[in-house]
Amino acid sequence: MRRFEDRAVLITGAASGIGQATALRIAEEGGRIFCLDVQAEAVEATAKQARELGAEAVAMECDVSDEGAVDRAVAACVERFGKLDALAHVAGILRFSHTHEMDTDTWRRIQSINTDGTFFVCRAALPHLVASKGNIVNVSSVAAKAGLAYGACYAASKGAVLAFTKALAVEYGKEGVRVNSVCPGSIKTPMTRGGAGLPKDADMKLVLRQMALDQPRGPETVASVIAFLASDDAAHVNGVDILIDGGTLA
Ligand SMILES: NC(=O)c1ccc[n+]([C@@H]2O[C@H](COP(=O)([O-])OP(=O)(O)OC[C@H]3O[C@@H](n4cnc5c(N)ncnc54)[C@H](O)[C@@H]3O)[C@@H](O)[C@H]2O)c1
Repeated sequence: MRRFEDRAVLITGAASGIGQATALRIAEEGGRIFCLDVQAEAVEATAKQARELGAEAVAMECDVSDEGAVDRAVAACVERFGKLDALAHVAGILRFSHTHEMDTDTWRRIQSINTDGTFFVCRAALPHLVASKGNIVNVSSVAAKAGLAYGACYAASKGAVLAFTKALAVEYGKEGVRVNSVCPGSIKTPMTRGGAGLPKDADMKLVLRQMALDQPRGPETVASVIAFLASDDAAHVNGVDILIDGGTLA
């Protein structure tokens, strides 16, 4: 399948996990990819892997919570490719804590990356996507749909991503821009490795509610759905949020 032949795609969080898998999936399908992440060396490694697959791939260090850096990165992407056809906004962070023990700086850091970052990246990309009649795929979470104990701040940020995505879908749909989201759960990535920093006294009964019915799966299981939504196979799909959670919320 070469659904992204000659398509210019911007991917955030591309150094690791779901973002890296998405970058490589789109590269395999012929896309020209522009990869952003705060991890400079690791995002360059993703771009190198994509080039080895025969794709045109560029990496750039960018903190999505820094609006100036985001504006510069999107401008650099459009300067390089001459256009932008799709945005896969994957970057995000997760921190667990008892909510009554969470300090305000941590709350603001999570919101600034997950919520503000989504706004900054989409805002910068939208004029170019209107020009190309392109699309956006944002990454939310099962945490936006079912209570995630010890993850209230993260859940609030991912709920914001869902609501923001639906609003954009309606606002820009008439201009031919589709905006969708995915809600992963139980995906094996560095973010979820080793309990992801749960409080030592966490009640595991509450945490296990969020586990897949059969088994956790790899980031490629999310990348394939993001690639579907970003491709013309989803030409009539706008404003949806697709659960990719192994049946957790069934
Ligand atoms: N793994 C799961 O089970 C799961 C479930 C639901 C949602 N998600 C979401 O999927 C997305 C990807 O997570 P993942 O599991 O691949 O984790 P990950 O930690 O492997 O990848 C996240 C990437 O985002 C990057 N990043 C973090 N802060 C950034 C910033 N300020 N600017 C730019 N890049 C930044 C990291 O460097 C990393 O490369 C996140 O938005 C996460 O919330 C993951």
